[in-house]
Amino acid sequence: MQVKLALLAEKQFETMLAYLVRYNPAAEQHVGFFGESETEIRETLAEIAPPLTESFWLAWEGDELVGVFGADYDPEIDRAWLYGPLVTAADWQPVAEALYAEVQKCISASIHELDLFFEARNLNGQAFAARHGFSLRSNNAVFRLQRADWKPSAVPAPVCAYQAAFFEQFEHLHQTLFPTTYYTARQIVEKQAEDQRLFLMVENERVLGYHFCKTETDSGYIDFIGVDAAARGKGLGADLLNAGLEWMFSRPQTGEICLTVDAENTAAIRLYEKFGFASGRILQGYRKRVD
Ligand SMILES: CC(C)(COP(=O)(O)OP(=O)(O)OC[C@H]1O[C@@H](n2cnc3c(N)ncnc32)[C@H](O)[C@@H]1OP(=O)(O)O)[C@@H](O)C(=O)NCCC(=O)NCCS
Repeated sequence: MQVKLALLAEKQFETMLAYLVRYNPAAEQHVGFFGESETEIRETLAEIAPPLTESFWLAWEGDELVGVFGADYDPEIDRAWLYGPLVTAADWQPVAEALYAEVQKCISASIHELDLFFEARNLNGQAFAARHGFSLRSNNAVFRLQRADWKPSAVPAPVCAYQAAFFEQFEHLHQTLFPTTYYTARQIVEKQAEDQRLFLMVENERVLGYHFCKTETDSGYIDFIGVDAAARGKGLGADLLNAGLEWMFSRPQTGEICLTVDAENTAAIRLYEKFGFASGRILQGYRKRVD
């Protein structure tokens, strides 16, 4: 049967969500940006900046949804994050290519970097990345901590909440530790809210570390944790992690906390394992520069 492509219509949102919840968990078609559970995917879609009805394309075989591909982008970071292709049509490649042709037109012309994110066993995704000149740039391990595996610390962690007076130092540390990441220091500071916290480790007015994390409907997520290279190995990372875990698990709805970390980042992985985090998927990040 012929496959037809169309932009997502508002009334099709729940159909698309059900499709993603059903098909994204399978390793061989998993797209890392979407997440796993229904709640996680719903929240991820809610955070996408352009309206989904202007940036998500669907592939239909009659009434049956057989493919989804969309994009998020941020002109300040100069990057687009490609949500897909997730295709279940028998003819994977032509459907993925046709969707990609449409999705590219939805991305602001000012953007110069495109990112893809696939589970390591998603071979169609890897071949797609190679065909379009994307380079593999990261292997990320997903780690999760279940509430039942969390051992709260008896002593409160010696961290403080972000204060504006520390912005320059925080910005310098964030740029040094994560120079090409998805939020600038200013964006992190502005994101702080009831459900997003920035903890600082300050000694003698010097910012030595920070932890930015958030709570979602039934989970928590660690965006960034980092310690000044000169202050590592003294327990500051553990204190910062502790403070964030305490806060995220203080909400009774938080059942688990997750994060992604470079699979070769031994220091961070040991830290997470020490706190009871267990590893799950390996996700591969691909990037392409467009001029
Ligand atoms: C990961 C990081 C935050 C750890 O900070 P830290 O202050 O050095 O960590 P701590 O001193 O609190 O160490 C806590 C535990 O982490 C583990 N750990 C920390 N550094 C380690 C290293 N270099 N090698 C192996 N294990 C290490 C150990 O299990 C340690 O516990 P132990 O000392 O009882 O064995 C720090 O290395 C860092 O900022 N790295 C760069 C940024 C980064 O990669 N962040 C994580 C991205 S997801």
